[in-house]
Amino acid sequence: MTEQYVNLLVSHRERVGIIQLNRPEALNALNSELMDELVRALQDFDADAHIGCIVMTGNEKAFAAGADIKQMANAGVVEMMSSPFIGHWDTLQNISKPIVAAVSGYCLGGGCELAMACDIIVAAENAQFGQPEINLGIIPGAGGTQRLTRAVGKSVAMDMILTGRRLSAQEALQFGLVARVFPTASYLEESIALAAEIANKAPLALRMAKESINRAFESSLAEGILFERRAFNLLFATEDQKEGMAAFIQKRKPSWKGR
Ligand code: CAA
Repeated sequence: MTEQYVNLLVSHRERVGIIQLNRPEALNALNSELMDELVRALQDFDADAHIGCIVMTGNEKAFAAGADIKQMANAGVVEMMSSPFIGHWDTLQNISKPIVAAVSGYCLGGGCELAMACDIIVAAENAQFGQPEINLGIIPGAGGTQRLTRAVGKSVAMDMILTGRRLSAQEALQFGLVARVFPTASYLEESIALAAEIANKAPLALRMAKESINRAFESSLAEGILFERRAFNLLFATEDQKEGMAAFIQKRKPSWKGR
């Protein structure tokens, strides 16, 4: 990857693309420059056939402490409405490869909304999840009222958003916001190992699985099942389906082609 970033550290390990938010002096507060770069980095990995899964992470102290309050403090409604800034969270929906949010430390406001826009959240034991916007006289504006409610249910979402209460990693696990909790010392390695496991699966099946699961939030059950059935049937047109089933029968490991 040749592209230069100011607010990110971007690397890859075999088939795992790694994007580290890198404004440690501001607890990775998400400003427009960082979000522009983040979208670019995600799109680059999405277009790169050598990458199978993406890890988004911060540092041990903060995944991200929210949208940059200093950048937003003097904005008016017209500026907020005409700025592409908040729309950047929605662009994550257009990334076809799985994104693992590896969260350590503060994961607040727009940071929590960014993690929720990823596909799987895994947390270090020291992670804290919260939507503290109410304490600034605003509400979550990058999907928090919708995605948090779908993730943890109405009562816990109301509690968090109306009071600003933070969840520990264990609470987030209990409520279904995160999939796994890792020791803080090894969370990034464990998250990359999880992403590597995913990255080595059949690429087209991964894509169809991600699209089908996301469809569960956008449609009725009957429409979602129809979408799933079409995706399932479509995979029988791929070489990888033939290879996966032949490998099972021949008791060997499959070799995926992404075709
Ligand atoms: N925006 C801008 N700067 C931030 C920031 C944010 N969201 N969060 C932290 N910082 C900056 C601080 O201003 C501070 O900078 P200076 O050294 O220049 O003063 C630096 O990061 C370190 O922060 P603290 O000194 O506050 O660190 P702490 O350990 O005492 O506290 C904290 C940590 C509890 C996370 C606290 O920083 C905090 O409450 N941050 C704001 C959290 C928040 O309200 N997030 C929601 C933002 S609004 C939003 O996200 C809207 C949306 O839905 C899109």
